[in-house]
This record gives sequence, structure tokens and C-alpha cells, in this order.
Amino acid sequence: AYYLSKDKQVELSKIAQSIATPGKGILAADEPAGIIESRFAPMNIENNEENRRYYRQLLFRTKESRQHISGIILCHETFYHKTDDDDTSFPRLLTAAGIIPGITVDRGLIVLGGTDNETITQGLDGLEERCREYKKNGAQFAKWRAALKIDKNCPSQLAINENASKLARYASICQQCGLVPIVEPEVSLDGDHDLEECQRVTENVLATVYKALNDHHVYLEGTLLKPNIVTPGKDCPKTYSVEQIAEATVIAFRRTVPTAVPGIMFLSGGHNEENSTAYLNAINRVNLYKPWTLSFSYGRALQTSVLRAWKGDKNNSEQARNEFIRLARQNGLASLGRYEL
Ligand code: 13P
Repeated sequence: AYYLSKDKQVELSKIAQSIATPGKGILAADEPAGIIESRFAPMNIENNEENRRYYRQLLFRTKESRQHISGIILCHETFYHKTDDDDTSFPRLLTAAGIIPGITVDRGLIVLGGTDNETITQGLDGLEERCREYKKNGAQFAKWRAALKIDKNCPSQLAINENASKLARYASICQQCGLVPIVEPEVSLDGDHDLEECQRVTENVLATVYKALNDHHVYLEGTLLKPNIVTPGKDCPKTYSVEQIAEATVIAFRRTVPTAVPGIMFLSGGHNEENSTAYLNAINRVNLYKPWTLSFSYGRALQTSVLRAWKGDKNNSEQARNEFIRLARQNGLASLGRYEL
């Protein structure tokens, strides 16, 4: 049986494919006010609403970045912000520029009781109504982030199962409303685990997520995956080559991510700009069959240098834009395996 009309399936798979256009990726500019504080503060940028609006406008109006960016994820506040000269809403501005607007619809993490401080993502209540409203106002895709950590007893099978089930429920609701769900089960970089441990956990998490998506009759052709890159924990004493990391990542996906999924769009997750680009590039060069577009959905790895150049001062806008163009271009090339260091 079909759980979505044929028309809706076609609409969703077109959106997903166009976000996963080879050579392009996603800018995750969806940090809510509380999180952007942690990005602004180190650069001494005051975290007020106008600075948040101006900063996003600066990014979204950088024409030369657009050939490398297929979609941009917004948070609720930014979704309803407008340009300062012609009062155009940001989703409208992006759509006119050929960039697909997306929206984060989860409502953050809470502790999952009965576990060693693991988390579950909130936001299913009222989700359908919110999705319909966002779609009406121009959103074409959505994001929901589940977070898992590697530690002595973590991730527990309970945390893996519950997070997978909520991701699947979210994905199903989004599709009913015409939004392509980005499914984001992030395995955190924190910890001293090695590469093999991250690969093992990532495989378990992804296998569980795709079983849950199947249980909920989610139409995979109309979804995108946003996973972590498979790497050692940031306090791991062992070092690995970029090629080893890339190979572990591709092997994990080949074992767990169905071919029907059009694109795997990585989060940067605390890797610095250089490593995020180098890993993506090496992943695309792994000599194994890879049936999906492998690209980026970076937040910090597309913005750290931009914020450092901007410093909250309009006089630095041009330098900030140049940094954004540089990062977008590098990652666009890396998504084709064509970035030369
Ligand atoms: P980072 O690339 O900074 O990890 O952000 C991506 C994102 O949207 C995480 O939810």
C-alpha cells in the first residue's frame, strides 16, 4: 500500500534530489538564539536580535556562494526575519536566489530518564500544525536532531531505540505536510573512544534508524540523512589518517543506509573547518561503490571564519562574505572529491 499519494512522493523526491545536487550542500544557519550566543561570544559579537538578523542576511545575500549551496536551514526566529531594504522574508529571498529554505522543527534535548544522562529530542506535540505553517510560508525541508554519546555504558540500546523512533515519527509527519525530513542521528565527537568504536556505534544507530523509518512507512526517496563523520573521539590518544577516517565512514554507510536515500549530508559536529573539508573530500575519493550524494550540511565548518572576519561590524561585511565564499567553494569541491589542499 502507498501511504503517501503518488503526487506527494514525486514532490518530495524532487526536493530531496535537488538538495542533493552533486557539488552542492547545505548551510546549517539554524542556531537558535541560545546557541548562536556560543558562536558570537568568542568573537565579541553582541547577541541581540538585529545582529542575528543582519548576520543571516549577510550570508544569504552572498551571491558567489550560491553555486555551492543548495539549501539553507533556518531556525524559527530567522524564518520570520526580513531583509532591511525591501522587507522580503528570508524564505522568499532564498527561494528567489535558487536556494531551498529549510526549518528546524525539533525543540531541543531533555534527559532520557533511567539512563546515564542520555538525551531524547522534544517537539512532536503540535508538529503537524507547525509543519503546515512553515510549508505555507516557503519551507521545503525540515531538520530534527537526535544526539547520542559514546561512553562506558552509552549509547544505551534504549537511547538508540527511542531516538530512532522519534526521528521516524517526525519524518512521517513532515512528509504528510510536504516537507523533506532531514534525519539527523548525531553520534557526538566527545570522548576518548577509537575509530573502530565510533564505526560500530554509528552502524548500530543507523541500522536502528532505518528500521524505524521502515516501521513508520517513511518514503526514503523523499528523505535526507545528516550523520556524523565516523572519526575517533576528540580525546582519543590514537591518531588515524584522513583516508582511514573516510574509509570507516563509507563502510559504515554501505552497511546501513539504503540506496533509495538520495543524499548523505554530513554535520561538522565540532571538527574544524580544515578537517571537515578534508574528510568530506577523502570520503568522496574512497574507491568503493557509493550510491548516494555525499555532501555537507555544515554549521560551524562554514561559519567560524565568517564570524571571525565580521566581528559584528558592518564595515567588515565584505571580508566576511569573502570567507563564506571561500568555505562554500572548498566544501563544494570536496563534495565532488576535487578539493586540492
Ligand atoms: P555543525 O556543522 O556545526 O555541527 O552544525 C550542523 C547542525 O545543524 C547540527 O545540528
